[in-house]
Amino acid sequence: MIRIAAVGDLHVVPRTAGTLRPMMAGVAGAADILLLAGDLTDHGRPEEVAVLCDEVRDLGLPTVAILGNHDHDAGCPGQMTEQLRAAGIPVLDGDAIAIDVRGTTVGIGGGKGFGGGFAKVAVSSFGEPEMKAFADHAAERAASVGAALVSPVMRAADVRVALIHYAPVPATLAGEPVELFPWLGSHLLADAIDAAGPIDLAFHGHAHYGSEQGVTPGGTPVRNVARPVVKGPYAVYTVPDGARVG
Ligand SMILES: [Fe+2]
Ligand SMILES: [Fe+2]
Repeated sequence: MIRIAAVGDLHVVPRTAGTLRPMMAGVAGAADILLLAGDLTDHGRPEEVAVLCDEVRDLGLPTVAILGNHDHDAGCPGQMTEQLRAAGIPVLDGDAIAIDVRGTTVGIGGGKGFGGGFAKVAVSSFGEPEMKAFADHAAERAASVGAALVSPVMRAADVRVALIHYAPVPATLAGEPVELFPWLGSHLLADAIDAAGPIDLAFHGHAHYGSEQGVTPGGTPVRNVARPVVKGPYAVYTVPDGARVG
């Protein structure tokens, strides 16, 4: 049984330095892998990232991250990625990584994703250049996630997990104002997951007031692991069934 700890939306800032690490202390005993689902800082400023790295480095288990929209706010996501990598935490952005857990290869693939909405209320590439740019970015980010999920690393894995920041399904947004849905996720992300199938489990964050559990139309369990949703420093799920065990 593979156990994956996951959390997003840590929103680390310097004034909270030192408060997260004690809460993460038991994660290596509770899980085989830790996934960080973006919005790891408030603004992605280097001084915030430095604090984040001190909180999550060397926790005793493989740790993989993606960035969220907040992590892009300061305009230096590349520097944040390098800071995390220097702390031993790879950052996925349209690519995948394989982790061996007691002889089972776990593939983790993904990236930030983007919004755009769901089904008939999704944005489309039409009209003003600004609206086209929004819709085109949603499509490009979903394609990037999709490319990660069909990469050779994922194809060769025994267990396959998607890690994104934005929501792929509306079910895990339940509790958020419906008017916000186009800013919270995109059905294109679920399309990418289902096209790459079978993906065993998908994690996302971003929707602080959403719900924990959903499923893609193709049947992949979806877990919203935004910290306020999981109500703890992390949640632990078994793969492939997605059952919460911690
Ligand atoms: Fe967030
Ligand atoms: Fe976010």
